[in-house]
Amino acid sequence: MSEALIKNFAKKLITWHGLDGRQGLPWQGIRDPYAVWVSEIMLQQTQVATVLERYPRFMKRFPTVTHLAAAPLDDVLAEWAGLGYYSRARNLHVCAKQVMEEFGGKFPSDPALLEQLKGIGRSTAGAIAAFAFHERAPILDANVKRILARLFGIVGAVQEKVVNDQLWFLAQELLPQNAEDMPVYTQALMDFGATWCTSRKPVCISGNKKCPFEKTCQANLSDQVLLLPRKVVKAKSPEFNCDMLLLRCGDLVLLQKRPEKAIWGGLWSLPESVWRAREKNTSHLTAKELLRMVLPEENVSTTLKSYNSLERGLEIKHIFTHRCLWMQIWNLSISNAIEFSSCDLKWVSLMQLGKYGLPQPVKLLLQGLSLARDDDLKN
Ligand code: ADE
Repeated sequence: MSEALIKNFAKKLITWHGLDGRQGLPWQGIRDPYAVWVSEIMLQQTQVATVLERYPRFMKRFPTVTHLAAAPLDDVLAEWAGLGYYSRARNLHVCAKQVMEEFGGKFPSDPALLEQLKGIGRSTAGAIAAFAFHERAPILDANVKRILARLFGIVGAVQEKVVNDQLWFLAQELLPQNAEDMPVYTQALMDFGATWCTSRKPVCISGNKKCPFEKTCQANLSDQVLLLPRKVVKAKSPEFNCDMLLLRCGDLVLLQKRPEKAIWGGLWSLPESVWRAREKNTSHLTAKELLRMVLPEENVSTTLKSYNSLERGLEIKHIFTHRCLWMQIWNLSISNAIEFSSCDLKWVSLMQLGKYGLPQPVKLLLQGLSLARDDDLKN
């Protein structure tokens, strides 16, 4: 049974793609490894609809690996703003430099070498090698793991090493013999997982389409489709509070550059306190208490001398992959744009915000201020 399934799988899947796969996406049919790499990284945690809008923009701004490697990190982060998971943008930048320095500006075709580059895991290396170089290299992202676990009735948790090894072995075995079929096969596998063999509503359950593997899929034959792949129960994400200072002086707002290794590393955000375990009812703060938590010690008294008012602002909830942060915004206005001792702190005009890479919730908050300001100017 398995042998016949393995033998016919690629052919059947490619036929499926011709009929029901996604066609005409801007990153399909490309052989430029740089363009393939950018699309794969952007598609990793971002919906296709968003990538359709942002990918052409990114490619226009950084058309080659040479352009990307030469650009300041701040420009790359600003272009990435809103796509989330900013380590992808930082890794893109490091990787572009590696390609320039270690490979003379040309991406290697060997997946083992691609995998050594920053931000490229084994599956992404396989995708780039398959799309750009027609290498017979497998991919194994979460969608593909789901397809294979169902097809072969693999009941172990896919996070376990032995199970993972088994899946990689199968992924290799299933590849089409003809290397020229690798791009369409790889795309088909991705599309099949994303649109037909989905986690909660696979077509074999929803019943509106006929799956090409219904007669051979072990999970379907044993009525276990929704049980596979087996999920490991995740602990609830921890929740945190922090206080954030929205310090304004007329049209200027104070931004702080975040440390490279922190969450939102390298982006410009509002000065913030350390994170505390979440408490629901936060008490009021005096200006002095707040400033001592968010500004360098030597700037606290000068700021205190020139501030006009302190108001508790919005509380914004932001969900990260493994944690949840409640940001209490404190609005403080001052009359003179005092100088700060740290070069990470900078006054920025509301009109210039577009030039800075900002975390999405901070961007939305500050855009709200910009809009209010435009209204003031109109009235
Ligand atoms: N996810 C990752 N790579 C993709 C691709 N090439 N097409 C669609 N979704 C993807």
